Amino acid sequence: DSITPHIFVILGASGDLAKKKIYPTIWWLFRDGLLPKNTLFVGYARSKLTLEEVRGKCESHMMVKGAEQEKLEEFWGANRYFHGSYDVRRDFEFLNQELEKLVKGNRANRIFYLALPPSVFQPVTTNIKHTCMAPRGWSRVIIEKPFGKDATSSAELSHHLASLFKEEQIYRIDHYLGKEMVQNLMSLRFGNHIFGLSWNRQSIASILISMKEPFGTGGRGGYFDEFGIIRDVMQNHLLQILCLAAMEKPCTASADDIRDEKVVSPKLLDVKVLRSMKPIDLSDVILGQYVGDPEGQGEAKEGYLDDPTVPKDSRTPTYAMAVCRINNERWDGVPFILRCGKALNERKAEVRIQYRDVPGDIFKGETKRNELVMRVQPGEAVYMKLMTKKPGMTFDLEETELDMTYSAKYQNLKLPDAYERLILDVFCGSQMHFVRTDELAEAWRIFTPLLHQIEQSNIKPIPYKFGSRGPIEADELLARNDFKYSGTY
Ligand code: BG6
Repeated sequence: DSITPHIFVILGASGDLAKKKIYPTIWWLFRDGLLPKNTLFVGYARSKLTLEEVRGKCESHMMVKGAEQEKLEEFWGANRYFHGSYDVRRDFEFLNQELEKLVKGNRANRIFYLALPPSVFQPVTTNIKHTCMAPRGWSRVIIEKPFGKDATSSAELSHHLASLFKEEQIYRIDHYLGKEMVQNLMSLRFGNHIFGLSWNRQSIASILISMKEPFGTGGRGGYFDEFGIIRDVMQNHLLQILCLAAMEKPCTASADDIRDEKVVSPKLLDVKVLRSMKPIDLSDVILGQYVGDPEGQGEAKEGYLDDPTVPKDSRTPTYAMAVCRINNERWDGVPFILRCGKALNERKAEVRIQYRDVPGDIFKGETKRNELVMRVQPGEAVYMKLMTKKPGMTFDLEETELDMTYSAKYQNLKLPDAYERLILDVFCGSQMHFVRTDELAEAWRIFTPLLHQIEQSNIKPIPYKFGSRGPIEADELLARNDFKYSGTY
């Protein structure tokens, strides 16, 4: 298949996502020779731009090195840009003609990347289906969240997509599924006997999945205010990690088996993780909204409500902690605590498995709980907190770490960006790391009652200072859920 040309079409080519993520990603893949030969790239958007202008917008995000100039020219030589509306069928007919011309009517595969706001998802996908499907070759569509705002709107979107495309043509990106450490969760769990044996309620007290960012909404206030942190990060990125941490072992490592393990599918009828979760209860949730820090520098001075694109009386949460409970034999009683927030004290995403206290402790209460931590970013690492004998003449205990920090273990390691991995997967037709329709419906079932309750009751989030650890009430929720501190998280 490597000689069949591929056309990668970016819809919304003049936008922010295209500029910051998609063009850089396809450039890196092209530069590293990872794409099939004869891949062409076509940008499409409403703005009347020349390819030079598109190039001008993107290049500062592409991290081009001096020695790569020739390759870079080759890359832009394989690019085209067309402008047109999103809801006018004729414009898409024109796009289709251009795509045909590019390959002189020969067999070619097409990938459509919708780097677009949700308001135009429906007209664009309809127009693609009716005018732009590859006449000879396959067509695949990549879409970005938000996949709706709640169970109903998401179901409508899924229904619409299902009326146009087959499941194997739809690639819903959750870029956390492309991160090294998130993918490593399965390897760690199912490739190690020691973890397999203890991965259950008998051994594990609680699991904390965090995603903290040290910056505010940074110019995305308009989008953010409509969605809030639960829809932006928790319902997708963190819930996906939870699934990988909690799921049963799939029969094989193939895409369908893995995705089947996360929900009930017609093929497998045993209890699945998402189906075993009850909707989240408001009493299990802490919400926060950041306020400016008068002593902070630059952005940190500004609170969420100081953002001119955010309504002055907004109650949209920028921080959330929520406890999920899985009602199955493996996890009954083990809280899965999801935590995410903007404008916090650090950038950190990690999964922290906290083991139970040692029963019948003989060390005068000195033992601390074991923890297995997978640090997703920054600085990928897997480490385990253990109790060992303090070296020397004493017989005291000390907490130490078995530490596998990637930068120490692998010299000059350059890990691919999540988008690189995922876009390449689309070329290869691998849906293993993408979100399936039934999975998405389950994710919304778990979060929709909570989101509606928060909005209908207009619940006021707890203010927290820009650069802090978030509302202290969250620590109380952690403590109530059998999470014990042995440091700051
Ligand atoms: C996006 C969210 O999905 O993920 C952003 O919309 C968030 O609000 C981003 O900042 C975080 O991604 P990463 O890869 O930088 O952790």
